[in-house]
Amino acid sequence: MVASVTLNVQPDSHSLARAAADFICAQVVARPDLSILVATGNTPMPTYSELARRAQAGEADFSRVTAVQLDEYLGVPEDDPRSLWAWMKRSFVEPLGTGRTVRLDDPAQFESEISELGGIDLAILGLGPNGHLGFNEPPSPPDAPTRRLALMPASLESNRAYWGDLPVPTQAVTAGMNVILAARQTLLLVSGAHKRTVLRAALEEPETPDLPASLLRRTAPTVIADAAAWT
Ligand code: PGA
Repeated sequence: MVASVTLNVQPDSHSLARAAADFICAQVVARPDLSILVATGNTPMPTYSELARRAQAGEADFSRVTAVQLDEYLGVPEDDPRSLWAWMKRSFVEPLGTGRTVRLDDPAQFESEISELGGIDLAILGLGPNGHLGFNEPPSPPDAPTRRLALMPASLESNRAYWGDLPVPTQAVTAGMNVILAARQTLLLVSGAHKRTVLRAALEEPETPDLPASLLRRTAPTVIADAAAWT
Protein backbone atom coordinates (compact mmCIF):
# COMPACT_ATOMS: atom_id res chain seq x y z
CA MET A 1 0.00 0.00 0.00
CA VAL A 2 1.08 3.56 -0.62
CA ALA A 3 2.25 5.16 2.61
CA SER A 4 0.14 8.26 2.21
CA VAL A 5 -3.17 6.45 2.56
CA THR A 6 -4.64 6.52 6.06
CA LEU A 7 -6.69 3.34 6.37
CA ASN A 8 -9.06 3.04 9.31
CA VAL A 9 -10.83 -0.33 9.52
CA GLN A 10 -13.90 -0.46 11.74
CA PRO A 11 -15.70 -3.59 12.95
CA ASP A 12 -19.01 -2.76 11.28
CA SER A 13 -20.99 -0.12 9.42
CA HIS A 14 -22.17 1.53 12.65
CA SER A 15 -18.68 2.14 13.97
CA LEU A 16 -17.65 3.19 10.46
CA ALA A 17 -20.35 5.87 10.60
CA ARG A 18 -19.18 7.12 13.99
CA ALA A 19 -15.53 7.24 12.88
CA ALA A 20 -16.46 9.07 9.69
CA ALA A 21 -18.64 11.52 11.63
CA ASP A 22 -15.73 12.17 14.03
CA PHE A 23 -13.47 12.89 11.06
CA ILE A 24 -15.96 15.24 9.38
CA CYS A 25 -16.84 17.05 12.61
CA ALA A 26 -13.16 17.66 13.35
CA GLN A 27 -12.81 19.32 9.93
CA VAL A 28 -15.87 21.50 10.52
CA VAL A 29 -14.62 22.57 13.96
CA ALA A 30 -11.28 23.53 12.42
CA ARG A 31 -12.98 25.42 9.60
CA PRO A 32 -16.70 26.12 10.11
CA ASP A 33 -17.20 27.44 6.56
CA LEU A 34 -16.00 24.19 4.99
CA SER A 35 -17.05 23.35 1.42
CA ILE A 36 -17.91 19.66 1.25
CA LEU A 37 -18.41 17.56 -1.88
CA VAL A 38 -21.20 15.23 -0.82
CA ALA A 39 -21.62 11.69 -2.15
CA THR A 40 -24.99 10.02 -2.10
CA GLY A 41 -25.35 6.22 -2.41
CA ASN A 42 -25.97 3.76 0.41
CA THR A 43 -22.54 3.80 2.03
CA PRO A 44 -22.51 7.30 3.56
CA MET A 45 -26.11 7.26 4.80
CA PRO A 46 -25.35 5.98 8.33
CA THR A 47 -22.61 8.63 8.56
CA TYR A 48 -25.03 11.38 7.54
CA SER A 49 -27.57 10.10 10.09
CA GLU A 50 -24.91 10.30 12.78
CA LEU A 51 -23.98 13.85 11.69
CA ALA A 52 -27.67 14.81 11.76
CA ARG A 53 -28.02 13.38 15.26
CA ARG A 54 -25.04 15.44 16.43
CA ALA A 55 -26.38 18.59 14.74
CA GLN A 56 -29.80 18.14 16.29
CA ALA A 57 -28.23 17.50 19.72
CA GLY A 58 -26.26 20.74 19.40
CA GLU A 59 -22.96 18.82 19.34
CA ALA A 60 -22.01 20.01 15.84
CA ASP A 61 -22.78 23.10 13.77
CA PHE A 62 -22.98 22.87 9.98
CA SER A 63 -24.73 26.20 9.44
CA ARG A 64 -21.74 27.75 7.65
CA VAL A 65 -20.93 24.67 5.58
CA THR A 66 -21.47 24.64 1.80
CA ALA A 67 -22.72 21.28 0.50
CA VAL A 68 -21.64 20.66 -3.10
CA GLN A 69 -23.35 17.99 -5.19
CA LEU A 70 -21.04 15.25 -6.50
CA ASP A 71 -23.11 13.72 -9.29
CA GLU A 72 -26.54 13.55 -10.84
CA TYR A 73 -28.62 11.62 -13.33
CA LEU A 74 -29.66 13.37 -16.52
CA GLY A 75 -33.32 13.57 -17.42
CA VAL A 76 -34.55 13.40 -13.82
CA PRO A 77 -36.12 16.67 -12.62
CA GLU A 78 -34.45 18.20 -9.57
CA ASP A 79 -37.64 17.94 -7.51
CA ASP A 80 -38.01 14.24 -8.35
CA PRO A 81 -37.33 12.33 -5.10
CA ARG A 82 -35.15 9.94 -7.09
CA SER A 83 -32.75 12.69 -8.18
CA LEU A 84 -29.41 12.71 -6.40
CA TRP A 85 -29.99 16.40 -5.62
CA ALA A 86 -33.16 15.47 -3.76
CA TRP A 87 -31.29 12.64 -2.00
CA MET A 88 -28.49 14.99 -0.92
CA LYS A 89 -30.98 17.55 0.38
CA ARG A 90 -32.97 14.94 2.28
CA SER A 91 -30.03 13.07 3.81
CA PHE A 92 -27.47 15.84 4.34
CA VAL A 93 -28.49 19.45 3.70
CA GLU A 94 -31.77 19.54 5.60
CA PRO A 95 -31.00 17.32 8.62
CA LEU A 96 -27.57 18.90 9.15
CA GLY A 97 -28.78 22.44 8.43
CA THR A 98 -25.99 23.38 6.02
CA GLY A 99 -26.13 27.03 5.06
CA ARG A 100 -25.33 26.88 1.37
CA THR A 101 -25.57 24.43 -1.49
CA VAL A 102 -24.10 24.12 -4.97
CA ARG A 103 -26.17 22.06 -7.38
CA LEU A 104 -24.52 20.17 -10.24
CA ASP A 105 -26.31 20.91 -13.48
CA ASP A 106 -24.24 22.76 -16.07
CA PRO A 107 -20.61 21.52 -15.91
CA ALA A 108 -18.93 24.86 -16.71
CA GLN A 109 -21.08 26.80 -14.28
CA PHE A 110 -20.44 24.18 -11.58
CA GLU A 111 -16.67 24.44 -11.96
CA SER A 112 -16.84 28.24 -11.84
CA GLU A 113 -18.96 28.12 -8.67
CA ILE A 114 -16.36 25.85 -7.09
CA SER A 115 -13.60 28.30 -8.06
CA GLU A 116 -15.59 31.12 -6.44
CA LEU A 117 -15.83 29.01 -3.28
CA GLY A 118 -12.04 28.69 -3.27
CA GLY A 119 -12.15 24.98 -4.11
CA ILE A 120 -13.41 21.94 -2.24
CA ASP A 121 -12.14 21.53 1.32
CA LEU A 122 -13.42 18.00 1.92
CA ALA A 123 -14.66 15.40 -0.57
CA ILE A 124 -16.79 12.64 0.94
CA LEU A 125 -16.78 9.76 -1.52
CA GLY A 126 -18.13 6.26 -1.97
CA LEU A 127 -16.48 3.56 -4.04
CA GLY A 128 -18.24 2.30 -7.16
CA PRO A 129 -18.29 -1.40 -7.94
CA ASN A 130 -16.16 -0.64 -11.01
CA GLY A 131 -13.88 1.76 -9.14
CA HIS A 132 -15.72 4.91 -10.15
CA LEU A 133 -15.68 8.04 -7.99
CA GLY A 134 -18.84 10.09 -8.37
CA PHE A 135 -19.80 9.00 -11.86
CA ASN A 136 -16.25 9.15 -13.18
CA GLU A 137 -16.51 5.86 -15.00
CA PRO A 138 -13.38 3.99 -16.08
CA PRO A 139 -11.31 5.15 -17.82
CA SER A 140 -11.17 8.60 -16.21
CA PRO A 141 -7.78 10.30 -16.23
CA PRO A 142 -6.80 12.67 -13.40
CA ASP A 143 -7.67 15.73 -15.46
CA ALA A 144 -11.13 14.46 -16.50
CA PRO A 145 -13.34 17.55 -16.11
CA THR A 146 -16.87 17.89 -14.83
CA ARG A 147 -18.92 16.46 -17.69
CA ARG A 148 -21.94 14.59 -18.93
CA LEU A 149 -21.41 10.93 -19.75
CA ALA A 150 -23.06 7.56 -20.30
CA LEU A 151 -23.13 5.20 -17.33
CA MET A 152 -21.48 1.80 -17.67
CA PRO A 153 -23.27 -1.53 -17.18
CA ALA A 154 -21.75 -2.08 -13.70
CA SER A 155 -23.08 1.28 -12.53
CA LEU A 156 -26.48 0.72 -14.11
CA GLU A 157 -26.66 -2.61 -12.32
CA SER A 158 -25.76 -1.18 -8.89
CA ASN A 159 -28.05 1.84 -9.39
CA ARG A 160 -30.95 -0.49 -10.08
CA ALA A 161 -31.21 -1.01 -6.32
CA TYR A 162 -32.14 2.67 -5.86
CA TRP A 163 -34.80 2.68 -8.58
CA GLY A 164 -37.05 -0.29 -7.84
CA ASP A 165 -39.05 -1.24 -10.90
CA LEU A 166 -38.47 2.04 -12.70
CA PRO A 167 -36.02 2.24 -15.61
CA VAL A 168 -32.53 3.24 -14.49
CA PRO A 169 -31.26 6.49 -16.04
CA THR A 170 -28.38 5.81 -18.42
CA GLN A 171 -26.86 9.30 -18.60
CA ALA A 172 -25.31 11.32 -15.81
CA VAL A 173 -23.23 14.36 -14.97
CA THR A 174 -20.34 14.14 -12.52
CA ALA A 175 -17.90 16.42 -10.77
CA GLY A 176 -14.66 15.73 -12.64
CA MET A 177 -11.61 13.90 -11.38
CA ASN A 178 -9.97 17.35 -11.55
CA VAL A 179 -12.39 18.62 -8.88
CA ILE A 180 -12.11 15.53 -6.68
CA LEU A 181 -8.32 15.30 -6.82
CA ALA A 182 -7.95 19.02 -6.04
CA ALA A 183 -9.92 18.69 -2.78
CA ARG A 184 -7.84 19.62 0.25
CA GLN A 185 -8.98 16.47 2.07
CA THR A 186 -10.59 13.32 0.72
CA LEU A 187 -12.55 10.77 2.71
CA LEU A 188 -13.43 7.46 1.06
CA LEU A 189 -16.07 5.35 2.80
CA VAL A 190 -16.32 1.66 1.93
CA SER A 191 -18.72 -0.84 3.43
CA GLY A 192 -19.53 -4.45 2.65
CA ALA A 193 -17.90 -7.59 1.31
CA HIS A 194 -19.01 -6.78 -2.24
CA LYS A 195 -16.48 -3.89 -2.23
CA ARG A 196 -13.53 -5.97 -1.01
CA THR A 197 -11.92 -6.73 -4.36
CA VAL A 198 -12.29 -3.24 -5.78
CA LEU A 199 -11.01 -1.64 -2.55
CA ARG A 200 -7.90 -3.85 -2.56
CA ALA A 201 -7.24 -2.92 -6.17
CA ALA A 202 -7.82 0.79 -5.50
CA LEU A 203 -5.30 0.80 -2.66
CA GLU A 204 -2.73 -1.73 -3.83
CA GLU A 205 -2.69 -2.01 -7.63
CA PRO A 206 -0.78 0.52 -9.75
CA GLU A 207 -2.63 3.79 -10.22
CA THR A 208 -4.60 3.77 -13.45
CA PRO A 209 -7.45 5.72 -15.09
CA ASP A 210 -9.03 2.28 -15.60
CA LEU A 211 -9.68 2.29 -11.86
CA PRO A 212 -10.41 5.94 -11.06
CA ALA A 213 -10.42 5.31 -7.29
CA SER A 214 -6.74 4.29 -7.49
CA LEU A 215 -5.93 7.89 -8.50
CA LEU A 216 -7.29 9.08 -5.17
CA ARG A 217 -4.04 7.92 -3.54
CA ARG A 218 -2.51 11.12 -4.92
CA THR A 219 -4.57 13.07 -2.40
CA ALA A 220 -3.33 11.27 0.74
CA PRO A 221 -6.89 10.11 1.39
CA THR A 222 -8.42 8.90 4.60
CA VAL A 223 -10.16 5.60 3.89
CA ILE A 224 -12.62 4.31 6.45
CA ALA A 225 -13.78 0.77 5.71
CA ASP A 226 -15.68 -1.81 7.66
CA ALA A 227 -14.16 -5.22 8.30
CA ALA A 228 -16.33 -6.82 5.63
CA ALA A 229 -14.73 -4.58 3.01
CA TRP A 230 -11.17 -5.04 4.28
CA THR A 231 -10.18 -8.41 5.68
P1 PGA B 1 -22.96 2.74 -2.77
O1 PGA B 1 -22.54 3.46 -4.12
O2 PGA B 1 -22.49 3.61 -1.64
O3 PGA B 1 -24.47 2.70 -2.85
O4 PGA B 1 -22.33 1.40 -2.74
C1 PGA B 1 -21.21 3.85 -4.30
C2 PGA B 1 -21.00 4.25 -5.74
O5 PGA B 1 -21.51 3.59 -6.66
O6 PGA B 1 -20.29 5.24 -5.97
